[in-house]
Amino acid sequence: MSKPDLQAIRGMNDILPHETPIWQSVETILCEVFKSYGYEEIRFPILEKTELFSRSIGEITDIVEKEMYTFTDRNGDSLTLRPEGTAGCIRALLEHGLIYKQERRIWYEGPMFRHERPQKGRYREFHQVGVEVIGFEDPSMDVELIAMSARLWHKLGIESALTLEIGTLGNFVSRTKHKEALVDYFTKHLSDLDEDSRRRLHTNPLRILDSKNPKLIPLIQAAPQIQSFLDPVSIDEFNWILSRLDTLNIAYRVNPSLVRGLDYYSKTVFEWTAKTKTLGAQNTVCGGGRYDKLIEQLGGEPNFAAGFAIGLERLIALMEENIKFKTVRTPAKVFLASIGIDARLKSFAIVETLRDHLPHLCFYHYLGEGSLKSQFKKADKSGATIALILGPDEIANQKITLKFLREDKPQVQHSLNDLIEVLRGNTDG
Ligand code: HAM
Repeated sequence: MSKPDLQAIRGMNDILPHETPIWQSVETILCEVFKSYGYEEIRFPILEKTELFSRSIGEITDIVEKEMYTFTDRNGDSLTLRPEGTAGCIRALLEHGLIYKQERRIWYEGPMFRHERPQKGRYREFHQVGVEVIGFEDPSMDVELIAMSARLWHKLGIESALTLEIGTLGNFVSRTKHKEALVDYFTKHLSDLDEDSRRRLHTNPLRILDSKNPKLIPLIQAAPQIQSFLDPVSIDEFNWILSRLDTLNIAYRVNPSLVRGLDYYSKTVFEWTAKTKTLGAQNTVCGGGRYDKLIEQLGGEPNFAAGFAIGLERLIALMEENIKFKTVRTPAKVFLASIGIDARLKSFAIVETLRDHLPHLCFYHYLGEGSLKSQFKKADKSGATIALILGPDEIANQKITLKFLREDKPQVQHSLNDLIEVLRGNTDG
């Protein structure tokens, strides 16, 4: 079969019918866990004003500088396909007055867009499920968020496949002092910096720490670390969070140089990374933290906030490796074949009655006028385990024949009422 000349954009994937059952199962589990913690769902546009992202994620970040899908629309406005969910979520909550002096637990799901170099686990269109909590100053909220993420992994059967890395960035003052120290340090090594890093030196020196340039790694490793500038409150809160994780038996690795690619974080930040090599270099499945200044930056009254987002493509790739999840439950399939015009006409009402009584089953109704042989070929291909046959005989006796397609059992005629019970008894519902 030759490929059509029109194909999907590089880094943007179709999720095909054989792949969607695992997506649906994951989405159901995530939604159930969120509900059990009191979260409500929000849906907001994929397209927003560009300024929303530059003001929240940070003008001098890889995402805003290099990765956004931005264009000017017919009105001359600069618009951007959302590269992440936090900014749009907070914008929507602010716009509708839903976080003014209030506490909120919110979740969302949807596609995000970043013009990164595609590779395994890194796409230009990918899907995130994210949560944002507003109005909680106490670090108990950081603990609840992490405990909820741990519960998700447990429910999905992948808790042993992930490691929690956690760090603290300190408050605004610690971050400012850290930045000053970085400017001093990198200025002394100006000749070793690449062009990107020189440009970032005075605008956002923290971002030099994200550099992927291998020549800069030793220099970055020796740079001043946030640890030396942390304020006592952030240190106490961080230690308190760790001790709560200990009591919950949630293992973690403190990572003092955990850099998140977005500017809005302060205090606690964390990532869940895959232990195995399944995801290649892109092994972060979930990332998040506190962002107590963002609401104010976006024009709201100051309010506390934290959250995390999970990359669904990475999560599902990890789960597909996991034996426990290979058996996604799909409904048992039943194929209804008919012979002759009378049977064909009656079959419509019969299959609808069966659907009324047996909503857990999947009924394939043969549509058209094929021979019984060709109908059975279709039944076999459909994956059905049971065939129902309606022909002149059955019409005369007011019965329907049931035939097991994958088991060696005799075929039997049943009245419609009996058939419903037999089908119920032979399928788990
Ligand atoms: P992020 O770390 O940029 O954080 O993205 C969260 C997750 O999205 C990553 O851990 C990864 O699993 C997935 N992801 C990111 N980029 C790609 C990509 N190109 N291809 C596939 N998956 C990707 C955020 O977006 C923050 N908004 C999280 C947050 C919510 N912080 C507070 N609240």
